[in-house]
Amino acid sequence: MARHGISITAAHHPPAACSAAPRAVAAAVAALLATAPLMAQVDLGTEEQRAAGKVVYDKYCGQCHGDDGDGNGYATLRVKPKPRDFTTGKYKFRTTPNGMLPTDDDLRRAIEVGLPYTSMPGWPNLTSAEIDNVIYYIKSFSPDFENPDRYGEPIDIPPPLESTEESISRGRVVYEEQGCASCHGEVGRGDGPSAPTLVNDKGDPIKIADLTQRWTYRGGPTKEDIYRTFSTGLNGTPMPSYADSLEVEDRQHLVNYVYSLGDGDDPGYGTLITAVHAEEPIDLQNGDALDALFADAPMTRFPLVGQISEPGRNFYPSVTSIEAQAVYNRDEIAFRVRWNDLRADTTGRNGPSMDVPMWDEDNGIGGDAEDGAEDAADSGDFFGDFGGEEAPAAAEDDFFGGGDTGDDFFGGGDDGDDFFGGGDAGSGGAEFSDAVALQFPISLAEAGSPLKPYFLFGDSQNPVDLWFVNLTYGVADTFRGRGSDQVVPTEADIVEAVTSYDQGEWTVTYKRRRSSRAGISFAEQQYTPIAFSVWDGFNRERGNKRALSSWFYVYTEPSVQQAATLPVLRAAFLVLAIELLVVFLVRRRARQRAAGSDTAADAVAAAGAPAV
Ligand code: HEC
Ligand code: HEC
Repeated sequence: MARHGISITAAHHPPAACSAAPRAVAAAVAALLATAPLMAQVDLGTEEQRAAGKVVYDKYCGQCHGDDGDGNGYATLRVKPKPRDFTTGKYKFRTTPNGMLPTDDDLRRAIEVGLPYTSMPGWPNLTSAEIDNVIYYIKSFSPDFENPDRYGEPIDIPPPLESTEESISRGRVVYEEQGCASCHGEVGRGDGPSAPTLVNDKGDPIKIADLTQRWTYRGGPTKEDIYRTFSTGLNGTPMPSYADSLEVEDRQHLVNYVYSLGDGDDPGYGTLITAVHAEEPIDLQNGDALDALFADAPMTRFPLVGQISEPGRNFYPSVTSIEAQAVYNRDEIAFRVRWNDLRADTTGRNGPSMDVPMWDEDNGIGGDAEDGAEDAADSGDFFGDFGGEEAPAAAEDDFFGGGDTGDDFFGGGDDGDDFFGGGDAGSGGAEFSDAVALQFPISLAEAGSPLKPYFLFGDSQNPVDLWFVNLTYGVADTFRGRGSDQVVPTEADIVEAVTSYDQGEWTVTYKRRRSSRAGISFAEQQYTPIAFSVWDGFNRERGNKRALSSWFYVYTEPSVQQAATLPVLRAAFLVLAIELLVVFLVRRRARQRAAGSDTAADAVAAAGAPAV
C-alpha cells in the first residue's frame, strides 16, 4: 500500500517542473509514463478486500497452503508436489520474465483453472470478486509484492508459426542445442539423464514434465503456453528461462517441435480395449512380426490413480496413464501395454503383495539419491538382507538376453553411472524395480449381473488373477488375489511376456491361451473386465503403493470371417428386400390398373416394412 502511494506522488511531480526545462521534463514524463504501468501493478487491495480474501483463503486454501501461507497446511504431508509457499513470492506459471512476480491475471488463471495433475484444484465456484480478494490476501504473505522492482511487464507472445516440416526440424536442432533433452529426454518423455536428480529451490525432488503428454502441463497445452513456459522459466524450479538465449523465431520453431512431440491436448481416455482377430501366430520372440500384429489393433489410453484406500498409500504416483491393445488368434490372446517412465528401474525387487512400512507410505516422487541412501541406511531393519542383494541384482543383465535390450536399459554408460554408480546402495531405483500387472476376474459374472471383483486385487467371493511382470526379470508371474492381503502365486495358466524400454517408454507384451480352466477364458464377442497396476521403482512403489485403474473392458471382436460375412449377409438381405419390393409394386400396379384404388405412396410405405 505504502509503495503504491509513493508511486502516485512521484507521478504528480513532473507538472510542477514544467516551465523550467520543457524538453527534459517531457522526456521525464515519457519515461514515467513508460514505467507507470509497472508501478500500477503494485496493487495490494484495500484492508477490507484483504480481510474478505482471508475468509475465502481460510475456508478453501489454508488446509494446503497453510494458515501463514507457507505451504505447510495440515493436508500437505500427503501432497506432492507441495503446495506453493506464498511467503517466497516465487510462482511458476507467469507471463512475466524469469524471477519476476506474477501478474494478478496469472494468479487468477491458476486459481480458476487449477494446476492439472497436482492436488491444486480449480475453483470455478468462487466469484470474480472472491478471487480478486483472495489474490490480495495471498500477495500479503510476501513482502516482494510491495517492491516495484520485482514487477515485470508480461512478455510478448507472437502468434505461432505454421508447423511446417522445416520449422519442426529447426525446432529439434534448438531443442538439442539448448539441452532440453538432458532433462526432458530425446523425445520428451521426461527421461533425460538429469531427470532423476532434479530438485526445486527447497530441495524437494521435482517431477520433470513429460512433454509428450500435453494434458499434464500445468501451464496449459497450447503453443502460446509452451512459448511462455520456456521463455519465462518456472521460478523456484530447475526449468530455466530461454528468453535471453533464443531469438523469437527460434523460440517459435522450438514451440512447433515441442508440440510435435505430443500425443494431443487431451488424453482421450477410453474404457474399452478392442481385441482384434489375427490369422497369424503370435510369436513373442519375433519383434517385427509382433509389431506388425499390433499395428492394426486400436490403442486405448486408461487413466491411473494412486492407491489411497488401503495401507501403502500413494497419493502422487509417477505414472498417470497407460495405453493398451489386444490381438487374438484361434488359440491365443496377446495384450500390449505402454507407459512412460523417467528411467528403467531394473535391478530391484517388487511384488504385488510386498509390504510397505508406514514410514514409506506416500513417499513422494523423486527418491533422490541422498534421501534414498539415508532411507536405506536408516531402514536396514525393514529391509533385512536387501543391501546384500544389490550387486547380484545389478549383474543380472543376462535376463535381457540379446545385449541390445541391455543397452537400452543402461544406455550410454553415463546414465548407468548416475543410476548405479559408486556402489551407492540407496541411489533411487536400485532398491525397487518397475513393474506392471494386468488384472482379470477369474470368471465372468452371471449374465446381467453387474458384479465385478473388488478392484484392489479382488475379494474373497470374487478372486482375480494378476499377470504380474517385475521388469527386473521381464517374465510374467501369475498371482491369484482375494484382496490385497491375500495375493498368492498360482501356476494355473502359463502367461508369457516380453518387455522393452526405449527413450522413456516401457512396452510389455503378454500372451496366454484364450481358454483356461482355472481362470478367465476369452471367447469371441465377449466383454471381459480388465484393470491395470503400474509400479515405478524410482518412486519406491511396490505392493499396495502403486498406480492403478478401475475396471475397464476388453472386447474380443468377432474374427475376420464373421466380420466379412456380416456385410455380405446384409447386402444379400438388401437385394432380397428390393426384389420383393419390386415384385410387390409390379403386382400392385397390375392390381391398381385393374381396380384403380391405392396410392403409390401407400404401396412404398407398406413395402418398406419387410425391408427393415
Ligand atoms: C488440496 C491442496 C490445495 C488446495 C486446497 C489449494 N491449493 Fe493452491 N496449490 C496446491 C499445490 C500442490 C500447488 C503447487 C502445484 C505445483 O507446484 O505445480 C498449488 C499452487 C498454487 C498457486 C501457485 C501457482 C503458480 O504459478 O505457482 C496458487 C496461486 C494457488 N495454489 C492458489 C490457491 C488458492 C487461492 C486456493 C484456495 C482457493 C488454493 N490454492 C487451494 C494445492 C492446493
Ligand atoms: C535443468 C532441467 C531442465 C531443462 C534443461 C529444461 N527443462 Fe523444461 N522443465 C523442467 C522441470 C523440472 C519442469 C517441471 C517444473 C515443475 O513441475 O514445476 C519443466 C517443465 C517444462 C514444461 C511444462 C510446464 C507446464 O506447463 O507444466 C515445458 C513445456 C518445458 N519444460 C519445456 C522445456 C524446453 C522446451 C526446454 C529447452 C529449451 C526445457 N524445458 C529445458 C526442467 C528442465
